[in-house]
Amino acid sequence: MNVLVIHGPNLNLLGTREPDVYGRGTLADINSLIEARAKELCVQVRIVQRSSEGAIIDEIHGAAGWASGIIINAAAYTHYSIAIRDALAAVMIPVVEVHLTNIFRREPFRRTSVMSDVVQGVITGLGPNGYLYALDFLSGGGSQALMVVPVQPIASR
Ligand code: DQA
Repeated sequence: MNVLVIHGPNLNLLGTREPDVYGRGTLADINSLIEARAKELCVQVRIVQRSSEGAIIDEIHGAAGWASGIIINAAAYTHYSIAIRDALAAVMIPVVEVHLTNIFRREPFRRTSVMSDVVQGVITGLGPNGYLYALDFLSGGGSQALMVVPVQPIASR
């Protein structure tokens, strides 16, 4: 099977970008982990990082007819890009939305995803492992929704 992995804007800066929030691992480190897991699962992966909304949409459109799963961390676009949401809904490919950080434990504007209700599942806050779990899920041909949500109430932080 083929899976498209899309990293959105600013994720290319991982390693130096707000390391207290995102850690010291680079995008290349994450991609190596994804490639290693893909190899184990006999999954072909195409991994891209795109900074603009249009380029992400082009990648999603390009996946139609080729990919049988998409893993997307749309980064800040998650919170407001109806255009990316519509592209994900249009291609009829199972999608897992991944976030390195737990978007529900951060600033209020990050607690909304405009794409969560058109994707198969959301993995948020589990760091780079989130991509690996998404790959496991998609390669298993799973159809169940997968949602990882904070167990610690925001108020008790
Ligand atoms: C992110 C969370 C977003 O709010 C943020 O804009 C990002 C990364 C994450 O992986 O935790 O760039 O998607």
